[in-house]
Amino acid sequence: MAEKVYQCTVSAPVNIAVIKYWGKRDVGLNLPTNSSLSVTLSQDDLRTVTSASCSKSFEKDTLWLNGHAEDISASKRLSVCVEELRSVRRELEKENDSMDKISQLKVHVVSINNFPTAAGLASSAAGYAAFTEAIARLYDLTWTPTELSRIARQGSGSACRSLFGGYVSWEMGELHSGADSVAVQVEPVEHWPEMRVAIMVASAAKKGISSTSGMQATVASSTLFQERIKNIVPGRMQAMKQAIRNRDFETFAKLTMTDSNQFHACCLDTLPPIFYLNDTSRAIIRVIENINAAAGKTVAAYTFDAGPNAVVYFLEENSSYILDALHAVSKHAEGWEESARNPTSVKIDDVASETVS
Ligand code: DP6
Repeated sequence: MAEKVYQCTVSAPVNIAVIKYWGKRDVGLNLPTNSSLSVTLSQDDLRTVTSASCSKSFEKDTLWLNGHAEDISASKRLSVCVEELRSVRRELEKENDSMDKISQLKVHVVSINNFPTAAGLASSAAGYAAFTEAIARLYDLTWTPTELSRIARQGSGSACRSLFGGYVSWEMGELHSGADSVAVQVEPVEHWPEMRVAIMVASAAKKGISSTSGMQATVASSTLFQERIKNIVPGRMQAMKQAIRNRDFETFAKLTMTDSNQFHACCLDTLPPIFYLNDTSRAIIRVIENINAAAGKTVAAYTFDAGPNAVVYFLEENSSYILDALHAVSKHAEGWEESARNPTSVKIDDVASETVS
């Protein structure tokens, strides 16, 4: 008879930070040097879908990411997530005799992203959020998203914010253990459902320097970065939360652009300097400046992660002319990816991780 297979499939969304996480104070536990805040995106093709299964016939813990097999035990980031959840399941099995002893079995995880992996579109965020959630559900753990965020954070920092929909902060915490370095929802999507984003893929190529190594080079060499984490981000986090609570788009937008600019300035202040923006990215910044100048107020905000792709935030009421302006300019730009030529508006998400089966 075939061995029983336990299985669970979930999906998790992409989140895009408006106050950036950049820098670790503890590399082993993935504890950040500053708190950060993001908006969760909602679009079927911007989610990672992940299935986790276990069976007596499996020989080792394996992940297939977009079809490529990876040994989970060879990756510290992956194995830390599996092992923490497995040990919790093991304790539950000890206390409850009727539970199947699936903590003793190897897991197989299959994960599919359909957006550019490692090109600055937060693929690791959706990826590790889905990975953590799939294993937690496979093990029937009834953890809150905040509890799960502590695990997902150790896979990839930004992943902890993808366990919630809406507006989400990752509070840096103070404890050496990292127990208080978790994500919490600032406001659900219904609080401000008019928020929209357009994603402009300036290049789908893999980024030159990963976030993980880039941020530690910044921590080691940038004096501007020290000023940012001590004297700027704490106040900016408060101001951003207030702007979201007040549904104050102008303040939200100005803080978003300023924070993106300062993050890239810190990259430039790193030795050797890190350049994530390219000519297309800078052209998009100019387009947004022009849109705002023509509107006489701030109606659109750009932000860039560790790559050249732009994410533009705006409100639904301004959606048609902002998308028209982005289209008009991108039609004439040389070398832009198709999706930069045809940005579409994406709603923000209310459901973070969903169980598919
Ligand atoms: C620029 O979460 O990818 O997107 O924790 O090393 O996996 P690791 O880094 P990662 O860094 C994301 C950096 C960012 C900003 C952000 O999302 O806050």
